[in-house]
Amino acid sequence: MATHWFKNAIIYCVDVDTFKDGNGDGIGDFIGLRQGLSYLAGLGVTCIWLLPFYPSPGRDNGYDIIDYLSVHPALGDLGDFAKFMDEAANRGIRVVIDLVVNHTSNEHPWFRAAQRRDPRYYSYYVWRKEKPPNTKDQVAFPGQQSGVWQYSRSAQAYYFHRFYDYQPDLNTANPAVRDEIKKIMGFWLTLGVSGFRVDAAPFVIAHKGPEAEKQPHESFEFINEFREFLSWKKGDALFLAEANVAPDQMLQYFGQRGDRMNMVLNFFVNPHLFLAIANESPEPLTRSLLQVPTIPEESQWGYFLRNHDELDLSRLTELERARCFDVFGPEKKMQLYERGIRRRLAPMFSGDVQRQLLAFSLIFTIPGTPIIWYGDEIGMGDDLNQPERNSVRTPMQWSEENNAGFSTAPAKKLRRPVIDFGRFDYRRVNVRAERRDPTSLLNRLERMIRTRKEYPEFACGKYRLLESDRTDAIFAHACEDEEGNAVVAIHNLSREPVKTKVRLWTDKLNHAVFLFGEKDDATVVKKDLSLELDGYAYNWLRLKSREVAVGKNRRVKKTTRR
Ligand code: NOJ
Ligand code: CA
Repeated sequence: MATHWFKNAIIYCVDVDTFKDGNGDGIGDFIGLRQGLSYLAGLGVTCIWLLPFYPSPGRDNGYDIIDYLSVHPALGDLGDFAKFMDEAANRGIRVVIDLVVNHTSNEHPWFRAAQRRDPRYYSYYVWRKEKPPNTKDQVAFPGQQSGVWQYSRSAQAYYFHRFYDYQPDLNTANPAVRDEIKKIMGFWLTLGVSGFRVDAAPFVIAHKGPEAEKQPHESFEFINEFREFLSWKKGDALFLAEANVAPDQMLQYFGQRGDRMNMVLNFFVNPHLFLAIANESPEPLTRSLLQVPTIPEESQWGYFLRNHDELDLSRLTELERARCFDVFGPEKKMQLYERGIRRRLAPMFSGDVQRQLLAFSLIFTIPGTPIIWYGDEIGMGDDLNQPERNSVRTPMQWSEENNAGFSTAPAKKLRRPVIDFGRFDYRRVNVRAERRDPTSLLNRLERMIRTRKEYPEFACGKYRLLESDRTDAIFAHACEDEEGNAVVAIHNLSREPVKTKVRLWTDKLNHAVFLFGEKDDATVVKKDLSLELDGYAYNWLRLKSREVAVGKNRRVKKTTRR
């Protein structure tokens, strides 16, 4: 099946400074990341998404950049980056990077010049002279920002900042700014990256004038412009949007002909998936999948469970959100920005491995590309003593050695403390320990990754939701490619074991083979696929046609998959 590489990719998201410290100074770096590549290759990862690694004062975990064409000195230099890229390529792993061009740091030389009213750079940013209205309800981080305009004494004007006040928005309506963005893209493409995750995409293209906070319209043609540049530089590059927008807005990000973003992170299905798990019922998930638009054939959804930010529940109703808070983050300190949960996956599920696998299985089978937040593959915990979203950004737990094997530096020099308390203590939860245990989350997930890659139908087949006689608990769907290869995934969202009949759409595919577990075949009678699943269990099946004819019990034709 010829298809774009990113459709059948397994993406793994890494924060370089908390993944592995290669030179013993307490901060993760590109040397360490290069050493970690064997592990990622072994896990089956095919693409790494790097969070911002550029020079930055680090007030927003690197999303406040002062130089787009370089590497933060604590993480290495461009040489270390190139060496890492080389090694990743040798292992067949692609790399995509964060493109953070909605804003710069207020310490970026462009902004410094703009504040001095340098005529070239002043128009790189968004200004207004008059006192702004109250914009408290426009902020990205409620409780942390008081508005979206900040007065600059030296410029004698207010500058616009959708995010923190130290992140002035770039004026993307200015063609010179768009040229800078293309220069940045071209630079990293030349160094070998396979694409970009576009930070805050809706804000990058939002109208930004003296009334920027009103956001009257977006300039989607900017995305076309960037994508054209990208495809010209590298035909198969990935343009992945962070666009947390309502379903009726989503299609515009892909473009009718798929000529804008080729992947969009699905921030609508994500909270509904968590609600489905909270309610032990597939209904919210099914509902959300039916609400999102059908996307162009070459395009793809990006699915994730947790990421480096809070679990954003703002697309749920108040009652639904309250339900998720109740189940996954009941204490105030677990919640953030009045809309989200700042915990990792494993603690949200009280460490229940089966439930974590159920959630992974959902994002591995609904049509899209799965993205794993580093550490979630071993069920790492969070540190609620860390401010805001840093709770989920603690060092990777490699082993039971000092500092979880993350660094040989004295503990007080670590970028962030390792988790050395409670149920998710690194002496219990770490890569080395899970490697040895065949039933560990890590080993079962590795198998899931392998299976997903073996069946690209999940990635690019036509998908359909399937009816069952237990719609209260069972989420079942199928994916079929053009050659008639078909797979089915069945999930039991309830804690109780369930016996169910799932209705197939055809009577031609009457032989179902389990892809997990010890049993070989499931029974299919007149389109009804019967099976039993334990509480929170899932299974995937390959469908084939069985033609029993002529001689006694002799299969004359057993169609093979390919
Ligand atoms: C979205 C990123 O995911 C988040 O971490 C960051 O704070 C904002 N964009 C601002 O760059
Ligand atoms: Ca280091």
